[in-house]
Amino acid sequence: MFYLRRLLKGMTPLQIDGYRFHHVPSTFNSAHVSAFLDGSVSFPTLDAAEQGRGVYLLGQSVLKFNRVKHWKVRLRKHLGLPGQRGHYCLINELVNLSRPELAGLAPSLQGFGWKSGGLLQDVYLLVEYFEGAETLDDILIQHPGKAEQVLEDVLLLFRRMLSQGFVHMDPHPKNIMRMPDGGLKFIDFECCAFGVEDLPATLGFLLGYFYHYWFQRFLCLDRYNHVCLSFMQRHYPDQLGDKFWQIYSRFRDEKVSRKTRYAMLTSAKACSTFLKGCPPPVQVDRPNVLRQPPLHLLRPASKGYNSAL
Ligand SMILES: Nc1ncnc2c1ncn2[C@@H]1O[C@H](COP(=O)(O)OP(=O)(O)OP(=O)(O)O)[C@@H](O)[C@H]1O
Ligand SMILES: [Mg+2]
Repeated sequence: MFYLRRLLKGMTPLQIDGYRFHHVPSTFNSAHVSAFLDGSVSFPTLDAAEQGRGVYLLGQSVLKFNRVKHWKVRLRKHLGLPGQRGHYCLINELVNLSRPELAGLAPSLQGFGWKSGGLLQDVYLLVEYFEGAETLDDILIQHPGKAEQVLEDVLLLFRRMLSQGFVHMDPHPKNIMRMPDGGLKFIDFECCAFGVEDLPATLGFLLGYFYHYWFQRFLCLDRYNHVCLSFMQRHYPDQLGDKFWQIYSRFRDEKVSRKTRYAMLTSAKACSTFLKGCPPPVQVDRPNVLRQPPLHLLRPASKGYNSAL
């Protein structure tokens, strides 16, 4: 647990009943947290709660709860052993939210806590609640006609993210929120990479993944390709080579596991292995070059959505 205390050294320690918290005093409401933990107040959920995990609204804070079940995972997390990078967990989210690269694009960190005694099991992360914000998913369900405008805004958000030096690895419409002033921000930082190792590969991932999870519900493939191509021509004309198109096509059309995603974005060797599994350059649906691609490459927008998790 020493590694956790090191991570939390900028925050103020606080004991709440049998729990150990570290918090930012000006933002943290300990009465709410205490009422949540002892169950005396039932706070609204922000997402369907599942066994062992949940997202709750506590006043001006979002509380994310996660129960680590398996003893081996508990031991790893307790000791801070390597091998957890790229996994979805609240400790990774805490680490990511502490990074300066996220400035202006993420909720601020308010606190982190766990149940005292024994191996680490129940963990709690508190972050700023974006009052009046809506997820892009909600906006698109209500206003499907705004899909192209939303996509253009998201692509600019990706550009800003890359210029700040990080990559959100699960950038789908429920993990991006529109603020009341119109600006976009990310939430859900459980899986993130810092430093952009390979720009065409990263752009291929972002633009392809966003279609697969799950902008395809809102915009047909031809229009999606068109908007992405205009964006690339305007902002990254030098990156429009085979590598970008191959990686874009694979992420756009296939499910790629989070482990593979993490590896290809953080290791040059894994990226080159990933590239070998992509469609060859001549088969890639490249709207600026292949004016009339073979019919089997002109896939219609699929209706279903299969979770990547
Ligand atoms: N900072 C925030 N401000 C406002 N609403 C938020 C915030 N964080 C989360 N939410 C709401 O709660 C939902 C779930 O949050 P989040 O994606 O962080 O949880 P999760 O359990 O990691 O989700 P997932 O199902 O993607 O794994 C979001 O889609 C959003 O509606
Ligand atoms: Mg989420």
